[in-house]
Amino acid sequence: MKGIILAGGTGSRLYPLTKVTNKHLLPVYDKPMIYYPLQTLMDAGIKDIMIVSGRGHAGHFLELLGSGADIGVHFTFEIQEQAGGIAQALGLAEDFADKEDVAVILGDNIFQDNVSKAAGSFKSGARIFLKQVPDAKRFGVAEIKGNKIISIEEKPALPKSNLAVTGLYIYDQSVFEIIRTLKPSGRGELEITDVNNEFIRIGKMDFSLLHGYWSDAGTFESLFRASELVRNMKSFE
Ligand code: G1P
Repeated sequence: MKGIILAGGTGSRLYPLTKVTNKHLLPVYDKPMIYYPLQTLMDAGIKDIMIVSGRGHAGHFLELLGSGADIGVHFTFEIQEQAGGIAQALGLAEDFADKEDVAVILGDNIFQDNVSKAAGSFKSGARIFLKQVPDAKRFGVAEIKGNKIISIEEKPALPKSNLAVTGLYIYDQSVFEIIRTLKPSGRGELEITDVNNEFIRIGKMDFSLLHGYWSDAGTFESLFRASELVRNMKSFE
């Protein structure tokens, strides 16, 4: 399985922190943000990893991460020319994926769970990772019936559950076919939620529930909370 870290976007919700640098390079407690999703992929045994970033700060990712040889992985770098959404960024990784399964992680998502079992047992289609949260309407929200996932709504005003769709997704190669059929959403982006709803529609989606903490770090509050969570976790190590 190959890994893809999506580190594009403008980081507008964190302005002016993101005026001269990229969101994913900002500190989360004692490390640059992107180290955390990288660690999640490495803990899952993934060694071949593509970083997709926007223009402007791409050189900084190269400078920070290098080839990966020092940590036993291999990095490939790709540029997303415009902020066209998560699914568009993923579409750029098709040649890199080269028909293998992919674990896709958002560069601002911080996970405590080790997902190596979920990655190792993946067969085909798609798998997402859900987490109970108090503020579901900030996220993609999953509706579950029995042990089946019925639908995902992107940032609903009235969430049907408290289960957020976290920014970690496993797909087989059919994801690239699906991305080609997408139309831009109201905010002008190709939405990962539309990709996931298509896998649900064709009956090829399953999910895992996360038990450890999870946070995004794309707003002032969540960035602050993510730093606190990491610091608290360290004090128990
Ligand atoms: C994105 C996804 C959303 C998901 C979230 C996780 O939202 O669209 O479904 O719940 O990441 O961090 P964004 O933060 O890009 O608005």
